[in-house]
Amino acid sequence: MTDLIDSLPTDRDLSDDEWRFLIEGDYDRQRLYDKADKVRRQHYGTDVYIRGLIEISSFCKNDCLYCGIRRSNAKAGRYRLSREEIYACCAQGYELGFRTFVLQGGEDSYHTTEWVAGIVSSIKERYPDCAVTLSLGERPREDYEIWHKAGADRYLLRHETASRPHYQKLHPPEQTFEHRMECLYHLKQIGYQTGAGFMVGSPFQETKELIADMRFLREFQPHMVGIGPFIPHHDTPFSDCSSGTLEQTLTMVALTRLILPQALIPATTALGTIHPQGRELGLKAGANVVMPNLSPVAVRGQYSLYDNKICTGEEAAECIGCMKRRVAAAGYRITIDRGDVKLF
Ligand code: 5AD
Ligand code: FES
Repeated sequence: MTDLIDSLPTDRDLSDDEWRFLIEGDYDRQRLYDKADKVRRQHYGTDVYIRGLIEISSFCKNDCLYCGIRRSNAKAGRYRLSREEIYACCAQGYELGFRTFVLQGGEDSYHTTEWVAGIVSSIKERYPDCAVTLSLGERPREDYEIWHKAGADRYLLRHETASRPHYQKLHPPEQTFEHRMECLYHLKQIGYQTGAGFMVGSPFQETKELIADMRFLREFQPHMVGIGPFIPHHDTPFSDCSSGTLEQTLTMVALTRLILPQALIPATTALGTIHPQGRELGLKAGANVVMPNLSPVAVRGQYSLYDNKICTGEEAAECIGCMKRRVAAAGYRITIDRGDVKLF
């Protein structure tokens, strides 16, 4: 089986046994990471794209069992940024060299379709050279269409797990796997650069679920894939569960690079949270995006999806400075560029 690593990347669909070996087998992971890094360099060189993350609301009507801002968490701090606060984050981000703004938030019913559309078009008007990415959860197809017309370029909606029974163990019954998937297909059809993704080491996850994730990515062909370890949050039903591991997460990042050579894959904040060098190691295992936080420091701590989240105390300028040093030390280079996907 070890020559399987030599044969990567491959266009053929791997068997269950082959996937199982790649995901949990006993072999030198560095060889896998190096393969992924090589493929990434073929398409993107040493370029690392930066996205300015603006966490616009910590209100959420959903109740994902793993997430710290789930509606049942009465202890979660709740805030909502005003239009003006969002524009101020963008202005600061633009000065710092960001050419993509990611508006992310809980599923907040206060955000009407028109409110979001107005913000998107205003950002695009002020910064025609920038991309706007939305990450606002599941909405009717119509909303996605209106936001796309308003100028939104990309949308991030992690599928969380490609296994229906597993999805239902992580979510209450009213949040269905079918609806999540439907949203993803709508986004892609509408013409968004679409991001999927999943947590590694989430409760009840086994290797077969990770195999399903790999097969889903191969079929869906997302432009972006966010992969991070599950990390427990103390005020959720999964507070006693253990985090996903560094090795397991890096393995999934590398395998994702090998099946989607051109994808944009972030070295996630969650990866940086479970290990001091997590994001750097993510870059060396195939990731090519980092998403420093542009949210006002005063609210950062309240966007608490999991415990011990890093970068919550740093001003945007400090965070991007720190990130530049880290990326350079890992042997890559941050680029000021919208960083669109290089189409397959
Ligand atoms: N650990 C790791 N990632 C989490 N997310 C939410 N809660 C957690 C957690 N406890 C991730 C989900 C979501 C993204 C915004 O954050 O994958 O899609
Ligand atoms: Fe945010 Fe280091 S990357 S403080």
